[in-house]
Amino acid sequence: MVNNPYILAIESSCDDTSAAVLHGRRVLSNVIASQSIHNLYGGVVPELASRAHQINIVPVVDFALKKSGIPIHKLHAIAFTRGPGLQGSLLVGASLAKSLAQALGLPLIGVNHLHGHLLAHMVSEDVGGSAADVFPQLCLLVSGGHTQLVMVHDYLNYEVLGRTIDDAAGEAFDKCAKVMGLDYPGGPVVDRLASKGNENAFSFGLPKIEGLNYSFSGLKTSFLYTLRDLSKNDAAFVQNNLNDLCASLQKAIIDVLMSKLKRAIRETGVRTIAVSGGVAANSQLRSGLTTLAAKQDLKLFLPELAFTTDNAAMIGMVAYYHYLTRKFNAFDVITDARLDIGDF
Ligand code: KG4
Ligand code: ZN
Repeated sequence: MVNNPYILAIESSCDDTSAAVLHGRRVLSNVIASQSIHNLYGGVVPELASRAHQINIVPVVDFALKKSGIPIHKLHAIAFTRGPGLQGSLLVGASLAKSLAQALGLPLIGVNHLHGHLLAHMVSEDVGGSAADVFPQLCLLVSGGHTQLVMVHDYLNYEVLGRTIDDAAGEAFDKCAKVMGLDYPGGPVVDRLASKGNENAFSFGLPKIEGLNYSFSGLKTSFLYTLRDLSKNDAAFVQNNLNDLCASLQKAIIDVLMSKLKRAIRETGVRTIAVSGGVAANSQLRSGLTTLAAKQDLKLFLPELAFTTDNAAMIGMVAYYHYLTRKFNAFDVITDARLDIGDF
């Protein structure tokens, strides 16, 4: 055991094949191969994702090692994403990680993908000082598959305060974008078009959910019905109002996210907040959080854009803390498509 291990991390939970090499917490390389094939279908096709991972994984790992400058025999551990995600995708990364660990005689570390997102903003931040300086921190985890408010007590100690009872925020962006005929993934496209639109042009039914839980399915349906009704006598309605629709949709989703976050801050008295997951790239969410932090004098962690969507560096970051506490897995560890945030 060493204090600053070289860890190779592999992430393949959905449609990004990624590998990273870390030295302690420092990222030496982080290579991501995205799969554009899914754009043709307006969403991720699991079987195609698995096949693309099989094609990409060896070159991606090879490239990450070369970029890091670390020869394979210098590695101290191999990490991979154990779940949640698509089973066929997870299996590809897990199989290579197990083979490498076995062949090299190294410890194997299975990482919960959600824990990776929770620490993603700390990959590049210089979070020097003691853990007391950064924890507890309230993290809004918003991706294509998840929307959760999590109190992060320590690097490997998480408490879920609220979660979506139906769709995730990213899913709401993607599905509404699809209805407007926009490309997949819709979140970044809506974000770009929204900057040219009027956010008060349209209003949609907002969820009334008790406590700190979220819901986005009603908003999605309300958006769909608005489009259907207003397109009845105007076939070009969506095309002619695209920027305003995107701006109004984005405002609705971000308002919902922010209102529960504010409530959680009030109820817990937490002074440090963070955001993670693909939707953390959203410009309105980032500026809303920055304003909130300034107003309430909160410490805010925003992840670099490269670490908002799926990447292996964040998996390596979690693996580093597993390594320090000797949380290793046996070679017969299985991937779990439905791994919960509380599972290790
Ligand atoms: O974390 P991620 O890469 O994958 C999951 O684990 O789900 O997140 C992908 C999600 C997609 O729904 C995508 O539309 C959304 O993140 N996203 C955005 C933006 N960039 C990515 N949503 C809103 N605004 C963005 N700028
Ligand atoms: Zn993710």
